[in-house]
Amino acid sequence: MGMPIELAHPLVTADQIQARVRELAEEINRDYADTQRPLSVIVVLKGAAFFAVDLLKLLTMPTQLDFLRASSYRGTDTTGEVHLVSDITMPIGGTDVLLVEDIVDTGLTAAWLARHLAGNRPASVRLCTLLDKPARRLMPVTIEYTGFVIPDEFVLGYGLDYEEGYRNLPHIYVARAKNELT
Ligand code: IMP
Ligand code: MG
Repeated sequence: MGMPIELAHPLVTADQIQARVRELAEEINRDYADTQRPLSVIVVLKGAAFFAVDLLKLLTMPTQLDFLRASSYRGTDTTGEVHLVSDITMPIGGTDVLLVEDIVDTGLTAAWLARHLAGNRPASVRLCTLLDKPARRLMPVTIEYTGFVIPDEFVLGYGLDYEEGYRNLPHIYVARAKNELT
């Protein structure tokens, strides 16, 4: 059972998220405007589902959508192992892939998934993440589209969970162990 936690201040509000999602969508629409290939939007379950749905509604090019799910096990060393819980079922060969993550923390998951998807021979793979926590990076990963760079805090809401809870909160909050709050 997990530690009791409390939510500190909202780090990013729902309005700030939606404004940034609009900017990211404009950027992505511009970048892929001249491409004739379909855009394969691959969403990492479960956390990125909220972000991906809001983003997808603002994309103007032809898209196809699929999901995958990964879990990462971290030992005491720095070589995290990523396990694919469920893979995409849609063919993505020859398409442009946009991998959509909720948060890039150590970078192990995103780096592993990008390499995994590249194995399906897409024309390109780019990473789009709502949140980037660069302080904890163990694996270098190129992020083309970043919503917000955040400090080294555990966050939840708008898809991000603590032990499967809190995903439905509209804002993103910093979570602290109960006795750490001042
Ligand atoms: P990474 O492999 O360390 O980059 O971790 C990526 C995954 O860890 C994310 O997809 C999240 O599921 C989870 N994660 C990392 N940081 C947080 C956080 O602050 N809140 C909630 N989940 C997190
Ligand atoms: Mg999680």
